[in-house]
Amino acid sequence: MDIIRGACHIAGLSLLLTIVNLVAAATGPAPPSPIETQTPADIADGERLFRVHCARCHGMLGDGGEGPSLKRPTLGHAPDDQALFDVIGEGIQGTGMPGTFGPNDDELWHIAGYVRSLGRLPAEAMPGDPEVGRVLYETKGGCAACHISRGEGQGVGPELSDVGSRRNLEYLRRSLTNPDADFPMLSSRMTGRTNAFLTVRLVSPEGEFEGLRVNEDEFSIQVRDLSGTIRSFDKHTLLNLERAFGHSLMPGYDTVLTPREVDDLSSYLMSLKGDRR
Ligand code: HEC
Ligand code: HEC
Repeated sequence: MDIIRGACHIAGLSLLLTIVNLVAAATGPAPPSPIETQTPADIADGERLFRVHCARCHGMLGDGGEGPSLKRPTLGHAPDDQALFDVIGEGIQGTGMPGTFGPNDDELWHIAGYVRSLGRLPAEAMPGDPEVGRVLYETKGGCAACHISRGEGQGVGPELSDVGSRRNLEYLRRSLTNPDADFPMLSSRMTGRTNAFLTVRLVSPEGEFEGLRVNEDEFSIQVRDLSGTIRSFDKHTLLNLERAFGHSLMPGYDTVLTPREVDDLSSYLMSLKGDRR
């Protein structure tokens, strides 16, 4: 048995080396990905490290949470294994994805190998009909009043064009039914820096104002109102500044939409992977 497995292994390896050589001949020498020669023990080590360093955001099984599900055959930020290694080690600037400290390079490759193994699992089934969800988004939901998606819409909320590759299904369902539950990080495209969404209410000499904090320093605060307009206030002129932690500007949809419609809409959001129409 072991001999047969050994023989298969050698045959597989030499096939692999042939492919690597062919690619190298065509494109110049590209080092083979260390993932290709990993053993099941390496992947198991990657799984163990994943639970320690990644599971709190990507879920114990890699199916996502605050971070996206990694059970996907292609990852936008990690088109190849080297890019995956870099994302895991360095994080993604301006997003909620931090760099990983602690593991050495070998261990980072084990984690990367485990992440790739997740991508080979069957895709998650969607609970609803994304086509119906798309129509709900545009009609009953009125979502475009506050969100940009695929270049359309405006407003105060985060862009949703790639939300399906940044979040998982459960998270998206929860943002519709209980928006106060999570406060996502502003994406880099909007501010160039990482910043938690925060609703602020302030009273200036011109009157009362509610919006989303976009930026803040010692002297000034920039707030985006519901129409998407960003206004800057001089802090020492403010009569009152209230930071409403845990209060979302986004309305809850659990009474507006039926459970079926929440399924359809979250399935539609899951289909938004950042690709152009
Ligand atoms: C504090 C939460 C958090 C932790 C911890 C975390 N991630 Fe992430 N990760 C995120 C978020 C949020 C994103 C989405 C970033 C974006 O594109 O806006 C992300 C994105 C990614 C991506 C890119 C996915 C794509 O579609 O391209 C990979 C791969 C990834 N994480 C792997 C890992 C691994 C492996 C670990 C552990 C070593 C880890 N992450 C730890 C939150 C986290
Ligand atoms: C009145 C403005 C408003 C409307 C209408 C609105 N949203 Fe939001 N949405 C927000 C804001 C602001 C946030 C930022 C986080 C928070 O405050 O909860 C948000 C967050 C989200 C998130 C989380 C995004 C992330 O990156 O984590 C999703 C998903 C979402 N909205 C989807 C929708 C959908 C779908 C609709 C229509 C059914 C909708 N929103 C309608 C303002 C709005």
